Amino acid sequence: MARKIIIDTDPGVDDTMAIFFALRSPELDVIGLTTIFGNVHTDLATTNALRLLEIAGRTDIPVAKGADDPLAVPFRGPVPFVHGDDGQGNINLPPPKTRPIDQPAAVFIIEQIMAAPGEITLVPLGPLTNIALALRLEPRIAKHVKEVVLMGGNVLCPGNATPAAEANIHNDPEAADVVFGAGWTVTMVGLDVTHQVNLTPEHIARYEASQDPLARHIARILPHYRAYFETVNPDMRGIYVHDSSAVAYVIDPTLFETRQWPIRVETQGISRGKTLHWGLPDDYPTIPPAFKGRPRVNVCVGVDAKRLIALETERLTKQN
Ligand code: BDR
Ligand code: CA
Repeated sequence: MARKIIIDTDPGVDDTMAIFFALRSPELDVIGLTTIFGNVHTDLATTNALRLLEIAGRTDIPVAKGADDPLAVPFRGPVPFVHGDDGQGNINLPPPKTRPIDQPAAVFIIEQIMAAPGEITLVPLGPLTNIALALRLEPRIAKHVKEVVLMGGNVLCPGNATPAAEANIHNDPEAADVVFGAGWTVTMVGLDVTHQVNLTPEHIARYEASQDPLARHIARILPHYRAYFETVNPDMRGIYVHDSSAVAYVIDPTLFETRQWPIRVETQGISRGKTLHWGLPDDYPTIPPAFKGRPRVNVCVGVDAKRLIALETERLTKQN
């Protein structure tokens, strides 16, 4: 039976690829999209989520709008230089015909998990505010969720939003620290692996050549995103596949190598948003107090990038 997932998302170019990848995967049943600020403001993330479901012909999937701001501070603002002013590579899509449901994202998440205990997997692809709010409103979701597979964080490598921090975690470190400490099964698909997953110009050419409507949309939105990567990393060609990597983990965890470490999130100073791990055993004599009693997170540290890219590209460029 297909695994029920809720994707929490800030679309976003790579979010778009991830949503389409999930919709094209028979292993997954996308039962809702919830929206969050990050790449764009939450209003635009919601508009984009609706537009993407229209393009995919899946307006049966509900969209619930999420929080406008992080838990502790106002949202710092979107990143048009990465994802475009419209979050879709500046292609200026027409407005959607559909509307979000009336429930806020956190309430939708709670209702779905409590109605199907042990069945729902959360796949957050943006800042973790909605997930932390849901935990705050109904802590029992930690027992009843199947698991949480999120894109975010960086344990053994530098950040991308700052030298220390990855963008999703940096946008709400307080929320991330709650999610990593909630005692549910959490898998972190962070920069440690996504910076190994490179969609090259040769792969992008396959999207450009495809007649598949989803591939065509991706081919339209990629140039702006790709130009960002190739400008900031002069040695790089193509893009990093961040959010689709989390979807790939849910489809096939054997694509990844993981370690089980407690994770804390720095909330102060110039390292705000850095995900810190404790790599020594629980009974080590001087375990730092901040890590004592913290649950272990499944942290992705290795990936079969070739197999992941092949799987996604094959599913999204079916019609040639
Ligand atoms: C994450 O930040 C966003 O720009 C992407 O959509 C992805 O979720 C990568 O750091
Ligand atoms: Ca994202």
